[in-house]
Amino acid sequence: MAATIDILLDEPIATIDPNVYGHFAEHLGECIYDGVWTGEGEAGRLVEGVVAALRRVRPAVLRWPGGCFADDYHWQDGIGPVANRPRRINIHWGEVVESNEFGTHEFVRLCRAIGAAPYFCGNVGSGSPRELRDWVEYCNFPGDTAWSALRAANGDPEPFNIHYWGVGNESWGCGGNFTPEEYAAHYRRFSTYLRDFGGDPPYLIACGPNRNDLDWTERFFTKLHEGRGFGRIHGYAPHYYTSNRDGHAGTDTAYTDDQWYALLAQATEMEALIVGQRAVMDRFDPERKIGMIIDEWGTWHPPTPGRNPRFLWQQNTLRDALVAALSLDIFGRHADTVVMANIAQTVNVLQALLLTEGERVITTPTYHVYDLYAPHQGAQALRVAIDAPTIGFAAPGGAGALAALTGSASLRDRILTLTVVNPGIGAPVEATITPRGAAVSGAIEETVLTHDDIHAHNTFDAPDTVTLSAPRAVTASGGTFTHTFASQSVTRLTIPLR
Ligand code: AHR
Repeated sequence: MAATIDILLDEPIATIDPNVYGHFAEHLGECIYDGVWTGEGEAGRLVEGVVAALRRVRPAVLRWPGGCFADDYHWQDGIGPVANRPRRINIHWGEVVESNEFGTHEFVRLCRAIGAAPYFCGNVGSGSPRELRDWVEYCNFPGDTAWSALRAANGDPEPFNIHYWGVGNESWGCGGNFTPEEYAAHYRRFSTYLRDFGGDPPYLIACGPNRNDLDWTERFFTKLHEGRGFGRIHGYAPHYYTSNRDGHAGTDTAYTDDQWYALLAQATEMEALIVGQRAVMDRFDPERKIGMIIDEWGTWHPPTPGRNPRFLWQQNTLRDALVAALSLDIFGRHADTVVMANIAQTVNVLQALLLTEGERVITTPTYHVYDLYAPHQGAQALRVAIDAPTIGFAAPGGAGALAALTGSASLRDRILTLTVVNPGIGAPVEATITPRGAAVSGAIEETVLTHDDIHAHNTFDAPDTVTLSAPRAVTASGGTFTHTFASQSVTRLTIPLR
């Protein structure tokens, strides 16, 4: 198979917001307890291996405490002496007992340790405007009030300066089962009280639809506006899971070739969501003051036998890695639209970057994609024109098709980063690559994530089954060069330019 890739240096898209490389950690299964946090009571602490691995992939932002959990979370349960914190039921995720040993201060410690900006998701479904505005004051007020004094008494005299605040989560479902009109009314009321409290004005994020539900977005913005202006809203957050919950694309580790393609094709529908949702938003917000946030995304496979089905633990194979790469490339191609995206979830849940067993930590193939794509963070996205054949496959509703090569490019300091996904099983693709508007100067470096077995994944016995290749020099000079992209792979080419 042959293809062409033209990288258009004179067609910059926008700076890729580092927050597109965001993450999400919920009180769900083994994400928090036995994931990022270990030990009980006063002996509780961050898991060092998790902190070290996450730091390496430069997580720009971390969303917490949910998810569905957020709309049943009362933040005052998670502050003060650990021994005094109330035990509650986690009604969404297995009705397990939530000890509240990991709360606001512990989460901020985690964010500082991994270098991420904290993003708090507030409780609208079962909370009150007062409860949420008090959380903002508790976290952010530098002066002397009852709430800031309590924060100091709990060990943190300096304000946390939490910038990102979600006003509810999945308000169409577990966050209250609201209609878009009902949620818009709640949003307006809650957001009225979320002030700056002496620090930066909080960045307020409204819950968007599930998948590309245009009706929700149309009705939410119609109601929110109602001739009075939007009030306080900075981000709007749809959720999109590459959902394989019904098993139509196999399971986490068992799938046919067609199911491999079916899941990857579903991941590419993220692009239609971004374009479709933004088109509706543009009618209400033509100056694009409200940013689009893909608050939760990733693969969601059928429950793993032997695991609590409500803990959403799943293995992570090369297929998941390609879903991550396809999605990050889409975010790069829409860098002028997507200002944040948080993969679900960080550790032990859904499309996790890390799996733990006790304090042992392994990295998943998805983790390696984040490592590979790190140079895109904060770089200038460029338009890329790819001409490649399509791959046909048998899909549940008929015939499916997937491009044989897709990718994205960015530029920083005359270094061009090109990332490319070749989903083809046993089908390497030779591409003629032209950076238009500049010439290559010096050696190109290639790093690849692939494996002969499309089901390959990492385990505690074999933690490096799927890992990045050692960087390899590729010879090229002048304007155009050819490169062969390995079958079933994700590739990064680092191209120095004159
Ligand atoms: O990430 C798991 C769950 O998926 C979240 O709690 C919820 O927001 C979504 O439905």
